Amino acid sequence: MSDAESTLITGIGELVSNDGEPNDGKPGSFAAMTDAALVIAGGKVAWTGPASRAPAADNVVDAAGRAVLPGFADSHAHLVFAGERSAEFAARMAGRPYRAGGILGTVEATRAASDEALRANLRRLAAEMLRQGTTTFECKSGYGLTVPDEARGLALAAEVTPEVTYLGAHVVPPEFAADPAGYVDLVCGPMLEACAPSARWVDVFCEDGAFGADEAAAVLAAGQAAGLHARVHANQLGPGPGVRVAAEAGAASADHCTFLTDADVDALTSTPVVATLLPGVEFSCRQPFPRARRLLDAGAVVALATDCNPGSSFTSSMPFCIALAVREMGMTTEEAVWAATAGGARALRRTDIGHLGVGARADLILLDAPSHTYLAYRPAVPQIAAVWQAGRLVAGAVP
Ligand code: NIG
Ligand code: FE
Repeated sequence: MSDAESTLITGIGELVSNDGEPNDGKPGSFAAMTDAALVIAGGKVAWTGPASRAPAADNVVDAAGRAVLPGFADSHAHLVFAGERSAEFAARMAGRPYRAGGILGTVEATRAASDEALRANLRRLAAEMLRQGTTTFECKSGYGLTVPDEARGLALAAEVTPEVTYLGAHVVPPEFAADPAGYVDLVCGPMLEACAPSARWVDVFCEDGAFGADEAAAVLAAGQAAGLHARVHANQLGPGPGVRVAAEAGAASADHCTFLTDADVDALTSTPVVATLLPGVEFSCRQPFPRARRLLDAGAVVALATDCNPGSSFTSSMPFCIALAVREMGMTTEEAVWAATAGGARALRRTDIGHLGVGARADLILLDAPSHTYLAYRPAVPQIAAVWQAGRLVAGAVP
């Protein structure tokens, strides 16, 4: 079927639209309708409503009582890398702690890899995400840490997503171990100049063992002066200044948010910074999960993302993150699905995705189950029957 043809998906047992109030063309609050139908035309959602009142269309898909959801928006992933760190994972499961220093093993492998090898790994992971319902994902550099290696990572990321993030400030590479200030100068100067044309975002790992508050603020300010928008790795391994730095910089998102003070929670509720929680990390590092309930009850906007990377969280599965968030973080099934769709859209400052209101991009999932609850109720079971991206069927099959 071509873009010019319309498609009616009818017999939808539960249509999760996220177009509850406030609804001004952006993702609204969680909303779902039973016995629903949806029309796709021109790559967008053209109509939603009761199946009994559905208009005619060129093609008809019978959902047979199954659920339809917005595609997942995974707003945090590190997919440009070579090598793997399963031995580090096994050592953690035998009692060793996670340390940011493990990143350097991936940096060495990534620098040594060919463009073709990096591209193949990146595309394999992107395809894996799509099959699991992720129709938008963000992708960071951060395993190159030289001017040409960071620029290469971003150019590769830009081949597969518009949500490209410059993370030259991931860790200080070994050749700058004696001169971390010199590395920050490089990140804010020649490296930024080479990388900004391929990126939309600038990110910094603000943590003990990576970059401190002043360094992180300098990196974000330099990125913003070059036209990039800020996001921050904050408060992952312990309490620290990351959330405060994100709020002061006007960042779109503070990611991890595992160790928060009351002042951090205040900063997340009194500014538009989205709190992006990454439960795959706590699962894979055997750490306490972030306290989502505390953030939600205080009024913060919460997103869920995978943080897919070879070290702290080697999962590309948003359904798995939803199941963890519900079971381990006190989120309701509605809150978790909203956070994985509309929340991710908010963290990426996107209004065209994360919801299925009329006019939204037709990024949607047909679930092999009657409701969104099954994503947490049947953990680790493949339940993504079909995926549409901008109105095109890109994974799975329809009857
Ligand atoms: O988000 N925290 C910093 N960066 C990644 C981990 C990267 C790695 O371990 O390779 C994260 O968890
Ligand atoms: Fe990360």
